[in-house]
Amino acid sequence: MTDSAFEQIRAVAATADESERRALVASLRNLASSFEDAGEITHRIGCAALETAAVEIGFDLGLFKHLVEAGSPINVSDAASKSRADPALVLRIFRYLAAIGTVSETGPGQFAANNVTNTLASDMGVAAVRHYFYTATPPYTILPAFLKKTGYKNPSDDLHSPFQDAFHTSLHPYAWFADPANAKNLTYFNDFMALRREPDLSWLSVYPVEDMSANWPADQAIYVNIGGSIGHQCAQFKAAFPTLPGRVILQDLPHSIAHALPTPGVENMAHNFWDPQPIRHAKFYYMRAVCHNHPDHKVLDLLKITKEAMSPESILLLDEMILPETGVHAESAVLDMTMMTAFASAERTEAQWRVLVEGAGLRLVKTYVYNKAGYESVMDVRL
Ligand SMILES: C[S@@+](CC[C@H](N)C(=O)[O-])C[C@H]1O[C@@H](n2cnc3c(N)ncnc32)[C@H](O)[C@@H]1O
Repeated sequence: MTDSAFEQIRAVAATADESERRALVASLRNLASSFEDAGEITHRIGCAALETAAVEIGFDLGLFKHLVEAGSPINVSDAASKSRADPALVLRIFRYLAAIGTVSETGPGQFAANNVTNTLASDMGVAAVRHYFYTATPPYTILPAFLKKTGYKNPSDDLHSPFQDAFHTSLHPYAWFADPANAKNLTYFNDFMALRREPDLSWLSVYPVEDMSANWPADQAIYVNIGGSIGHQCAQFKAAFPTLPGRVILQDLPHSIAHALPTPGVENMAHNFWDPQPIRHAKFYYMRAVCHNHPDHKVLDLLKITKEAMSPESILLLDEMILPETGVHAESAVLDMTMMTAFASAERTEAQWRVLVEGAGLRLVKTYVYNKAGYESVMDVRL
């Protein structure tokens, strides 16, 4: 391909919207693999696990941060002395990291940051890759044996999934996170959840919160964030509507509430959502990325438990990915497989969500899409 062809593709990417950009990335990957030879294909697929391992070593040695902070190419010897590592080893790690595109090689023994390096130097990049490496990958490697053992049935038992086999535990992943021995895994997970989305890609950008809650009494709960982790979304809600009357409540398991943000005006409440919902007749019961962690029968239980607390004025907001019927992009397909391995659960299409909502005796009134490219939407569900 000539330089001008690359330039044309860059120009298309620069003006593409998010859906077009993702489609372009997928097309270019498919194009590249369409003329790979057998050796390239087998090494790319067979050695995929090495990529994450090498990036993890890059984190441990601070290589991505060194490159980004330097702002210009750095020599292996300088990077090695900063990292207190053997220069010969650092050269081999850098060479591999450059071969897989995570850093750029600018000369003999000389490397610089690129677009991928910038993400890997960020707090979100570190938390995400470490979550996948330390918590998601062991179940991925068990999946083939697990599916063979269970006769290739679609997993639906969240206490007997590849997660339990991989970590030799009988605990559900969220109970396993509470064990102090897994504190680092919990920190990576919570940081990944908190940092992974752009704040402007939020249900708050599309949902008419004020219209739906006009004249709401100040002593009633207006927003209960169920399974809200350490409270970033409650803080965003408070910042968006500082004068809206009504209590704003974060609920999560005790080990997450112990780390919750101390946002003024937000009540942090330890609550196990399998127990009856203690906040009754709230305006909005909101759950983001909670139901996708559970198999269908558990989602039905959770919807019914929440329904018990709702009044005719309450609205249950399910903020979830809604998969298209065809052409699901790689990132969402990864999440679906991750839900399978960790929780015996799934990402779902609108038809699948509707079956669950209606199965709990509720109505899906309207779906608001706030991230078309990432399929993220908030579903307005009522009695
Ligand atoms: C995938 S995370 C989503 C976190 C947050 N809603 C977000 O979108 O960033 C699921 C959350 O559900 C919480 N959770 C899991 N089981 C729970 C339970 N039984 N009761 C309350 N919270 C629970 C987890 O601690 C975690 O914070």
